[in-house]
Amino acid sequence: MKGHDVVEKNIGLMTVLVIVAISFGGLVQIVPQFFLKETTTPVEGLMPLPALILEGRDIYIREGCHVCHTQMVRPLRAEVERYGHYSVAGESVYEHPFLWGSKRTGPDLARVGGRYSDDWHKVHLFNPRIVVPESNMPAFPWLYDNKLDGKHTAAKMRALRRVGVPYTDDDIDGARAAVEGVTEMDALVAYLQQLGILLKEKR
Ligand code: HEC
Repeated sequence: MKGHDVVEKNIGLMTVLVIVAISFGGLVQIVPQFFLKETTTPVEGLMPLPALILEGRDIYIREGCHVCHTQMVRPLRAEVERYGHYSVAGESVYEHPFLWGSKRTGPDLARVGGRYSDDWHKVHLFNPRIVVPESNMPAFPWLYDNKLDGKHTAAKMRALRRVGVPYTDDDIDGARAAVEGVTEMDALVAYLQQLGILLKEKR
């Protein structure tokens, strides 16, 4: 009892002890995740994103798509019925940074790959209201005009390789040629069309 009185009357000591307690609790939850096989092993068939799709992903980030769209199907019945198989950690082992997100203004996109045709996506991104009249998603018409120059693609892949994404020298050498001159629209649609297809049970 005496010891606890000391802690309760000394706000400095209490602050320190609270921080220690919370940090310990956090570490116990977080640290084991780095060593669990199921969070660090890629799902079967997972490959590093090819150069063009990697550029598409960066456009997705630049345009803030992740601010309105999550990429995380939670293991809840309503979600699985709507979007397909729930997301698993092994799908994200090459993702730096993750795009799981936390806010859904629009639908989750973790399994959108193959759900629509390329043409549907292009029209939708040009002006969502053409295909979904009630949509409040912004239009991204400039994606048609902007072309990739591929100047930094190889450097991005080298950076990703440093954090563990298994790009080969051939992937990196061919990166610029694979993207140069392609429109941002084509790169972004290529990115969307492969989202979540490895674990797709139903859609
Ligand atoms: C301001 C929020 C907002 C932003 C930013 C946004 N979206 Fe959307 N998105 C929506 C809403 C709302 C819908 C549902 C209506 C519709 O289909 O247009 C939607 C629908 C979609 C769909 C159809 C999903 C489905 O399963 O039917 C795709 C694909 C999509 N968005 C891709 C994108 C991409 C790619 C970007 C970035 C270039 C983006 N969105 C940016 C709000 C947003």
